[in-house]
Amino acid sequence: MEIVIKKDYEQMSRFAAEYIASFIRKKPNCVIGFATGSTPIGTYRELIRMHKNGLDFSNVIAFNLDEYLGLGMDLSKPYSQDQSYHRFMFEELFNHINIKKENIHIPDGLTNNPDEFCKAYEDAIKEAGGIDLQILGIGGDGHWAFNEPGSSFESRTRIEKLSEQTIDDNYEAFYKNAGFSRDEMPHYAITMGIGTILEARNLLMLVNGYKKADIVAKALEGPVTNQITASAIQIYKGVATVVLDEEAASRLVHGDRHHYKSVNI
Ligand code: GLP
Repeated sequence: MEIVIKKDYEQMSRFAAEYIASFIRKKPNCVIGFATGSTPIGTYRELIRMHKNGLDFSNVIAFNLDEYLGLGMDLSKPYSQDQSYHRFMFEELFNHINIKKENIHIPDGLTNNPDEFCKAYEDAIKEAGGIDLQILGIGGDGHWAFNEPGSSFESRTRIEKLSEQTIDDNYEAFYKNAGFSRDEMPHYAITMGIGTILEARNLLMLVNGYKKADIVAKALEGPVTNQITASAIQIYKGVATVVLDEEAASRLVHGDRHHYKSVNI
């Protein structure tokens, strides 16, 4: 695992976007796993800027990590009522780059048959040749995607009940301002499993802000535990790059932060 510490959110986002862009330049038809949440928004804005300067997404294949159960791309709903990750991805990235619609895969929270859908999603990832680069954040309870505490490290794409902390965090970040009550927010999601994520050939994990400093230190330096599913990064076999801003890195205690910094100029 390589830990890169950047001064602030802006620099973290620039580094992450450059990392993703160089991946696309090397392999124009690469399969990228995309993440949602507030963390990658800066990275996506940078990628959009790079696209305006020529970065080509026309052969990129996208698989998103997760979606709330009951939500999907429902265009009959006005934006203010639609907090889906579909909407998020199109608004924050896909509408602004030249990725082909048929190359975009996001779990369908509106499916009538979630079990069948989850299996088909796994099959589609395999058919695409597996994920070359998976982008990740971390939830306040240490989750990757929506793999809540207790999820098996062997888990695959499935329905998961959101933890109370995740409901609180995501309610505050996305639902409250849109005028929803906490109960109106979905309490279930379709999520790629930890086992699915660990099969990606490269991981790029982004974390910013003091709020995440404690949980990210536990995930990267603490015991590997399914109570903090992002700690699975410690047993990951591929190439993992973690990009933190100074604030998020402030609670790393076991590692030598100067070492982290010096290897990543
Ligand atoms: C949600 C997503 C995760 C994401 C997390 C962090 O729970 N399912 O994939 O990492 O939010 O969100 P934020 O970046 O807004 O802190």
